[in-house]
Amino acid sequence: MIEIENVRKSFGPLEVLKGINLTVPKGEVLTIIGGSGSGKSTLLTCINGLEGIDSGRIVVDGTDVHAKSTDLNKLRRKLGIVFQQWNAFPHLTVLENVMLAPRKVLGLPKAEAEAMAVKQLTHVGLGEKLKVYPNRMSGGQQQRMAIARALAMSPEYMLFDEVTSALDPQLVGEVLDTLRMLASEGMTMICVTHEMKFAREVSDRVAFFHKGVMAEIAPPEELFGAPKDPELQAFLAATH
Ligand SMILES: Nc1ncnc2c1ncn2[C@@H]1O[C@H](COP(=O)(O)OP(=O)(O)OP(=O)(O)O)[C@@H](O)[C@H]1O
Ligand SMILES: [Mg+2]
Repeated sequence: MIEIENVRKSFGPLEVLKGINLTVPKGEVLTIIGGSGSGKSTLLTCINGLEGIDSGRIVVDGTDVHAKSTDLNKLRRKLGIVFQQWNAFPHLTVLENVMLAPRKVLGLPKAEAEAMAVKQLTHVGLGEKLKVYPNRMSGGQQQRMAIARALAMSPEYMLFDEVTSALDPQLVGEVLDTLRMLASEGMTMICVTHEMKFAREVSDRVAFFHKGVMAEIAPPEELFGAPKDPELQAFLAATH
């Protein structure tokens, strides 16, 4: 379970998270929507400890992410994160790229790391691309490789930050299908997305961020069907 309690975060004079409260239980698929600069990416980077927070707490399975005593490397094994773009190592094959973290971070022997990488690449539909170099793959394939790479660490939670927004429209579907598959398998996921149809279909709950505040959170049928917050109403009207 991920517990976010009254989290505040500023960059200099700009308060980007203004007291966020949110609990994500195991197995939930939560999507976060909201305008540019509303604090969505910042929240994800705070959850996995890439960024510090000014006050409040983020607790993952009982571990306070920002406590001094917390072993962040250990915690991050639980929290897979995939961004808009991931720069693979161009001189390594897809398989070698995906094996890297299990070998270096988990210390798995080569054969085990390879077996895990093959398993996850096959899972995301890239079983035929093991020996290919990343620059020979489409954007959608590269994003699925990035997802396989995160999955190869056997995470319990996955954080996705606009993983389709750098893609050509015809490639978006294959990546969203991969996310749908993970959701249907019971992965606990927080997905920041601009894909409203996807959010509506896949989410247990959808959270709307506006200027550092979580202005509304509700199951998708409620949030999209009967939005209460005026800013959310305006946001949805503009994105339709
Ligand atoms: N490292 C940083 N240093 C200074 N300001 C930052 C930093 N990271 C983010 N910000 C600012 O914090 C605010 C929130 O940024 P954030 O990236 O969380 O927004 P977002 O909701 O993810 O937006 P988008 O939809 O455009 O990705 C923005 O005004 C941004 O400029
Ligand atoms: Mg962002």
